[in-house]
Amino acid sequence: MKVLFISLGCDKNLADSEEMLGLLTGKGHEIVDSEEEAEVIVINTCCFIHDAKEESIENILEMAEYKKAGTCKVLIVTGCMAQRYKEEIIEEIPEVDAVLGTTSYMDILKAIDEACEGRHFQEFRDINELPEDSGRRVLTTGGHYGYLKIAEGCDKHCTYCIIPKLRGNYRSVPMEKLLAEAKDLADQGVKELILVAQETTVYGKDLYGEKSLHKLLRELCKISGIQWIRILYCYPEEIYDELIQTIKEENKVCHYLDLPIQHASDAVLKRMGRRTSKAQLVEIIEKLRKEIPDISLRTTLITGFPGETQEQHEELKDFVDEMEFDRLGVFTYSPEEDTPAATMTEQIPEEVKEDRQAELMELQQEIAFDLAEDMVGREVLVMIEGKVADENAYVGRTYKDAPNVDGLIFINTDEELMSGDFARVRVTGALEYDLIGELI
Ligand code: F3S
Repeated sequence: MKVLFISLGCDKNLADSEEMLGLLTGKGHEIVDSEEEAEVIVINTCCFIHDAKEESIENILEMAEYKKAGTCKVLIVTGCMAQRYKEEIIEEIPEVDAVLGTTSYMDILKAIDEACEGRHFQEFRDINELPEDSGRRVLTTGGHYGYLKIAEGCDKHCTYCIIPKLRGNYRSVPMEKLLAEAKDLADQGVKELILVAQETTVYGKDLYGEKSLHKLLRELCKISGIQWIRILYCYPEEIYDELIQTIKEENKVCHYLDLPIQHASDAVLKRMGRRTSKAQLVEIIEKLRKEIPDISLRTTLITGFPGETQEQHEELKDFVDEMEFDRLGVFTYSPEEDTPAATMTEQIPEEVKEDRQAELMELQQEIAFDLAEDMVGREVLVMIEGKVADENAYVGRTYKDAPNVDGLIFINTDEELMSGDFARVRVTGALEYDLIGELI
């Protein structure tokens, strides 16, 4: 059948989508990109924050119209929103034929078969199970980079976060499975592996009795074809010495870490259920910069958490100003049902959250521009992402930039380059978050 697949949400969800695509194509289904053509539409949803929920609902309702019109025969909803709001989806959107929970995506083929027989199908396996992989993942990233999901679930239970209720307790994927998957990705042409999980830093503790991300990294570095390994979602308090040492020593591991800190006021961190204080954050950031001077640090922040005072917001701004993160994203707090923070008193008005978000982004813009200007004149290694349409120019990323969330470098050249090529580039100019360069 002709299948349109819509993947929403984070890169962990995308890895699940790629597993489903592997099952679908393995069974002979054809993947198409037009709604009009599709006989089956699958939407892998997200419901982390209000906007993500809205996006998921809009997509489901929009695709339900194709079901009503009769062009689409089967409509399937999977992923986090399906897990969270299964009853509501089934009851309120009768066009939906099948609903699969976060650990049930391997049932996608069965869901199509049942729906084709006219039967509604739903599967919600235990969210603490580790789903089997399809063994034939289909990459949607262009083929030169790929996400490697090293663990599922989370045990941290930050007070604003719904994810443990959607994805269960933390469980690491066995190392031998990850190495086989990484090898397979390398065989498919992947040069950059991006390690993801709700939290990557505690990888292996549940399986091997100790944190083992450093061991996993050393093994992944042995895979030929893989040239960059990037680590996302590191909880600052879990960063440990052997990990720092490994990042320092292994050439393939990018000097880049994503440390979502969320806030810097001790009082707010405590209400968020975070396990760090501002002093500890400063300590770990300084240590990382001392040990790995060219490390690029990314973080994310939340503004307008319940009870956040103007003073605490100013404290966060001062922290951002002092720490000068290389990359930074800011979200406004979104109250999620069934999380402790949603029932906290002193919820902050939406416009205050947004004003605070804008102030932080403005501050970061200046920091980012200064850091980008410092790069002018330097030589950098760039992974080419693709060609700029109708121009003799390419776009790429340095080790400081993860795909989709960080900056880019634009390179003017008449030479023919391909996605995934590495090029040596001299930086000739700086934009706010991006760079301009020329081939050396
Ligand atoms: Fe990801 Fe959204 Fe689920 S952020 S884990 S797809 S709630």
